Amino acid sequence: MAIVFSFPGFEAIANSIAGEKNMQRGDVTVRQFPDGESYVRLNSPVQGQDVIIVCGLDNPDRKIMALMFFAHTARKMGAGSIGLVAPYLGYMRQDKEFQDGEAVTADIFAAFLSQMVDWLVTIDPHLHRHEKLNEIYSIPSMAIHANDLIAEWIRANINHPLLIGPDKESEQWVSEVAKKATAPFIILTKTRRGDRDVEVSIPDLANWRNHTPVLIDDIISTAGTMITTAAHLKDAGMKPPVCIGVHGIFAGDAYEKLLASDVEKIITCNSIRHKSNGIALENIIVTAVIKISGPDPKNLFGND
Ligand code: R5P
Repeated sequence: MAIVFSFPGFEAIANSIAGEKNMQRGDVTVRQFPDGESYVRLNSPVQGQDVIIVCGLDNPDRKIMALMFFAHTARKMGAGSIGLVAPYLGYMRQDKEFQDGEAVTADIFAAFLSQMVDWLVTIDPHLHRHEKLNEIYSIPSMAIHANDLIAEWIRANINHPLLIGPDKESEQWVSEVAKKATAPFIILTKTRRGDRDVEVSIPDLANWRNHTPVLIDDIISTAGTMITTAAHLKDAGMKPPVCIGVHGIFAGDAYEKLLASDVEKIITCNSIRHKSNGIALENIIVTAVIKISGPDPKNLFGND
């Protein structure tokens, strides 16, 4: 039998997983002591149960200790297995030593999580120099994609869309969304000069002026990429863009800054709870969890 727990903020996804197969919902208390240390208590027995924990890993430094305490305690209490559903998987972007001595945190974090849990389901992780999660994760891992849902949303809400990917990396998902939404797309060139400083170059858009630009990216963090691109689109005489992010991290006041720039609308998937959430991921997560938590998850190695 499986029992599904949720860290704060992920109750809806945990309820959907449990509801689908009539699994038990587990109760866990997670809180911070005044000094910033984490307190974790499993309030439901897990002896002999397959434990599923839903915990997005945005802001990972604040969550990872609590998740480790949860996993250790669940094992001590006799859990049969522990699967992690992390709708957003942090520490995927530093996947290379760009300068001598830098920690390649994608690899280190993957090794750490692979020790902690038995399988992993996530949505559109930032796979750039790695093609598949199992190049760095040694547990069965599934990366599912929000492409179909984004395409559906565009079809239902936007007339004459022109999909725009801000950089080469985005081509993998923008081209898929375009195919499914039967919409044209272009890919821009982005140069990142610093955490908050990006330069984006735009081709001649004269032929697209009667289209609605739809910017699509996997992550909106500082929103610098979208704000810079929106400014260029304005200069090119385009309408204000609709901005779609799979994962809306919105570091600091990024959301307010993006809203205040020349954009029509901001929509994100609900991998990270935010007022911009407009695309629900529950159904695709439930399908993936049923698959990976089946009798032989090892079959799913590399099936991402
Ligand atoms: C970059 O590699 C990602 O795909 C996103 O373009 C990036 O994370 C966006 O970051 P920001 O919102 O800080 O410009």
